[in-house]
Amino acid sequence: MDVRDLLRSVQLTGSAHGWHATRSAWRRQRIDKRDLPRRGPERARVPGAALDAEPMPGGGVVRFTRSSLRVRVAVGGAVFCGWDGAGPAPSYALAGEGPGGGSCPAADTRAVLEPDKDGWRVVSERLTVLVSRQGAVEMRTPGGLLLRRELPPRWWDETGQREGDGGARWAQRSETPADARVYGLGGRAGGPRLPAGGYRLWNSDPGGSFGPGDDPLYITMPVQMVVADAGCHLIFHDCTWDGRITLRDGAEGAGSGHDRPGGCEVRMDGGPLRYWVIAGTPSRVLTGWTALTGRPALPPRWALGHHHSRWGFGSEREVRRVVAGYRERDLPLSAVHLDIDHLDGHRVFTVDERRFPDLPGMAREFAAQGVRLVSIVDPAVKAEPGLAVYEEGAAVDAFVRDGRGRQVRGVVWPGQSVFPDFTDPRARAWWGGLYAERLARGFSGVWHDMNEPVSFAAFGDPTLPRSARHVLEGRGGDHREAHNVYGLAMARAGYEGLRRLRPEQRPFLFSRSGWAGMQRYGGTWSGDVVTGWEGLRASLALVLGLGLCGVPFSGPDVGGFTGTPSPELYLRWFQLGAYLPFFRTHSAIDAGRREPWEFGDEVLAHVRESLAERVRLLPYLETLSHIARSTGAPYVRPLWWNAPDDRSLRENGDAFLLGDALLVAPVLEEGAVKRSVRLPRGRWYDTATGTRYKGRTQVLLDAPLGRIPVLAKAGAVLPVAGADGGLELEAWAPRQTRTGSGVVFTGDPEGWQAPRMERFVSRWVDGELVVERDGGGAPGYPVRVRGGPA
Ligand code: GLC
Repeated sequence: MDVRDLLRSVQLTGSAHGWHATRSAWRRQRIDKRDLPRRGPERARVPGAALDAEPMPGGGVVRFTRSSLRVRVAVGGAVFCGWDGAGPAPSYALAGEGPGGGSCPAADTRAVLEPDKDGWRVVSERLTVLVSRQGAVEMRTPGGLLLRRELPPRWWDETGQREGDGGARWAQRSETPADARVYGLGGRAGGPRLPAGGYRLWNSDPGGSFGPGDDPLYITMPVQMVVADAGCHLIFHDCTWDGRITLRDGAEGAGSGHDRPGGCEVRMDGGPLRYWVIAGTPSRVLTGWTALTGRPALPPRWALGHHHSRWGFGSEREVRRVVAGYRERDLPLSAVHLDIDHLDGHRVFTVDERRFPDLPGMAREFAAQGVRLVSIVDPAVKAEPGLAVYEEGAAVDAFVRDGRGRQVRGVVWPGQSVFPDFTDPRARAWWGGLYAERLARGFSGVWHDMNEPVSFAAFGDPTLPRSARHVLEGRGGDHREAHNVYGLAMARAGYEGLRRLRPEQRPFLFSRSGWAGMQRYGGTWSGDVVTGWEGLRASLALVLGLGLCGVPFSGPDVGGFTGTPSPELYLRWFQLGAYLPFFRTHSAIDAGRREPWEFGDEVLAHVRESLAERVRLLPYLETLSHIARSTGAPYVRPLWWNAPDDRSLRENGDAFLLGDALLVAPVLEEGAVKRSVRLPRGRWYDTATGTRYKGRTQVLLDAPLGRIPVLAKAGAVLPVAGADGGLELEAWAPRQTRTGSGVVFTGDPEGWQAPRMERFVSRWVDGELVVERDGGGAPGYPVRVRGGPA
């Protein structure tokens, strides 16, 4: 037990769960000692020298003395590399219905393996893959620029390992250009640009709250987005095991010609050594990535509005009071969330009928006011004989067992609990059916929590024993392999359940934990971000990083999860949140209030303005949700999105693009009433003052307490809600010699009908800006021209 463990144990021992958490930690340790295969003596192995190669559709296999490498270009341009016989499937990340998980896209038969100077090469549309005779793999642009070089991997084979235990530990080092910068790896509080250092790949609840220094968090993913002058690429190591990615910054030799490359080392405790590389512009990369792992689920329209939540509303009366508070002050509200305190003794899929006597009635009442109810759903089921969910789950053998076949017990909010094995299709089907209860109670969406999964522990890792058995789609294995996909598989169970139960409506689901591909089922949120300016900064880092990993719908607990924000901090958080996809105030049971009227009249007035702006931008956000759905491009993008070659933008983490039209520069510092930002190329208007700025310059903008700077790109045409709620076009004047454009998606608010896409163009005619449909014709919407000729 180290000091942190001790502190944690003291913290927990003070709570009702303390004793159980201590026992549970001991039990976990004992089970693992008994059931985890012991590491035997290991022998290091490298591929050795190349022997021969065999072309196959999309690439081929190169055989080395002690391993083999398969290279396969898929339709769409993603390149797969698998060592030691690893193929693309089975995989939890890939979309589609394959045996034991997703399916692999077809091979691009135009790409073939052919001999090259020092080995072999596979030339494809966007990447040239060069395999050396020692097993190094280079990825180059069609023009020959180096994107990355993977050095020959190394395995530590164990003698006497049990079959199905996942094989050897492995490590692989790579090099990237000296100017390369890395983003992603899931939700990292210290991003978005990930500084050099180690990043663990093990979904973890930081316990209590987290700030920028806490890592790993709830969502880890071996997904790196790499941006360099030579080009951008994404690399995904498709391995769910515990591991660590160590990033190394490169250094440029200041004209000496001796650059020290950047790069990383990936070290995994087991599992296949296989990876995908997708190259191109950022938007092409995200399109390729979400073609491979699934396009993001489209949230229902209401989910783009403002949500209010709190752990500890405590009663229907209290929830009604809060909703009435919004109504009386004429503040728009889209949804309220009920946390674990509405459950009967924290038991999932139950309700405390004493304090929440008529949820369906309340849901109807709220629905009439345009407010939806969202329910928390935790995976842990109280291990209580007679409890319906427990008995049913046991009857269908849905719960995780240990090596001796006994149910694995842990401790979560309801006390002693068991955990559904979401890697078992039968358990998923059963669990998905349970959402019928939530729908009957009047809930419109679900919030998956504690699904890393968490099992409180007084010391050690607060999750299931590593030796716990999992079905893993029939292959069988243990928690070392299943842990990181537990939340992802739970999301699948929930999503598929909701689709079966309410086929006419798009599910609204968001999940604290997840893995590559989670966007197929829904979004996520920050988790328990600490209340403080550093928490505010971290929340933006998470949204940006996750977006680059293909998960576009997320947002923080506005105001922070813990404690009480100062009125200023609350307001700045609210102002940022209003421009993020998932806009929800939420806080812990012992935290201060978060209702907008709790911080004084001045804050309330400014919150009102933020909410009004959110409502005005809803058509634009809806358009962005459809763009994310059809292309994978996140709503919230780093400033370098359209200019990855502009090095000065790569370090930026305190401003972002919202779609193509807007640049948002939130205030993340106490007391600041001005802030500077470097603008990407183009012309930009301060939307509040109309001042026009040149791109590629650093500008200082006014950021009075009442607003954060938002700039619009010259030429942008975006849809907004007019005063009467109808759709209007806002056209920001392009330069006199230029034209502008924009797209608008309007769609089914909750169902599955295909959306309608309209394109608009703007151009100057006799000193006047004219907006038309692309191809000609009146726009069909009122147009508001902003800005003027330059
Ligand atoms: C976890 C969640 C938090 C929630 C709490 C109680 O800490 O991250 O959002 O309020 O559990 O359910």
